[in-house]
Amino acid sequence: MNLKNYTVVATGKIRPCAYEKLKNMVNLLDWQQGGRMPKEELEARLAQADAVYSAGNVRFTQELLAKAPKLKVVAQAMVGYDNVDLAAMAERNVLLGNTPGVLVDAVADLAYGLLLDCARRITQGDAHVKAGLWGQRKPFGLTSDLAGKTLGIIGMGDIGCEIAIRAQASKMKVIYHNRRQREDDEKRQVRYVSQEELLAQADFVMLAVNLNPSTKHLMNAAAFAQMKPGACLINISRGAVVDTEAMYEALKSGRLAYAAMDVTDPEPLPGEHKLLTLPNVTVTPHMASATTETRDAMAMLTVENIVAALEGRAMPAEVKTK
Ligand code: DGY
Repeated sequence: MNLKNYTVVATGKIRPCAYEKLKNMVNLLDWQQGGRMPKEELEARLAQADAVYSAGNVRFTQELLAKAPKLKVVAQAMVGYDNVDLAAMAERNVLLGNTPGVLVDAVADLAYGLLLDCARRITQGDAHVKAGLWGQRKPFGLTSDLAGKTLGIIGMGDIGCEIAIRAQASKMKVIYHNRRQREDDEKRQVRYVSQEELLAQADFVMLAVNLNPSTKHLMNAAAFAQMKPGACLINISRGAVVDTEAMYEALKSGRLAYAAMDVTDPEPLPGEHKLLTLPNVTVTPHMASATTETRDAMAMLTVENIVAALEGRAMPAEVKTK
């Protein structure tokens, strides 16, 4: 099918492999210089758009969608869709595509790295050496084994399961909490528990849930108080799953021994944010899926989603909005 009559608006830079493919197939309004597209420019382009290739840097609100009267599909090169007003998409019959599956290993690897950092203080050790202090007493003293410790995963989807496998390779016990218990607990050697039980038992709590109204501030002051004293928190989901102020207080008091996070609220986290004044924190800049291979795969899946939607076929990865 010839798709050259369809206009696809890219809201950010597209990986070269996907860019070439898309450019040959459709009328592509690209933004390969990267950076943030000015609002007026985006709105002018949306007026012509049959499809949007979004790198996740745009909020698809009711108001923005109204600027795109012909829009059939928004395909995001990411798995999360908390930046999209699902009801507004459904009302306008606009399809939504995302990229599950292809980023699972990359995200699980970074999550495991942050878990290891909480236990073994790799970034703190590195900072100690870089400060010229090797040979002097380390401020964090001895570190902690992973073997024999309990990892509590909140959100046991595909990524949570891969994190569990990596933790089990380090001889950790894995418990989890989900909206629903999985059917493969025995095979996976994991145990389903209530959120309260997880917080009370886990030495390390891993957040791998989607952000939605029911998970916003799931880790609030009450939840931190339920955690085992001296436990650690790892967040690779979305910053707003944690109440940043409550986490800051828990870290400052030592109730929470350490927090390692790839996502923050706000995001980006300003360099002068008070969280960064604490010694017991590691922050990476939302880079869990940012490997060459994974970002290429995410970009190609985004193109496949767009092409399928424009051809009237089922998208390989569609988010149900209704
Ligand atoms: C995702 O795909 O949702 C990751 O968080 C990267 O944005």
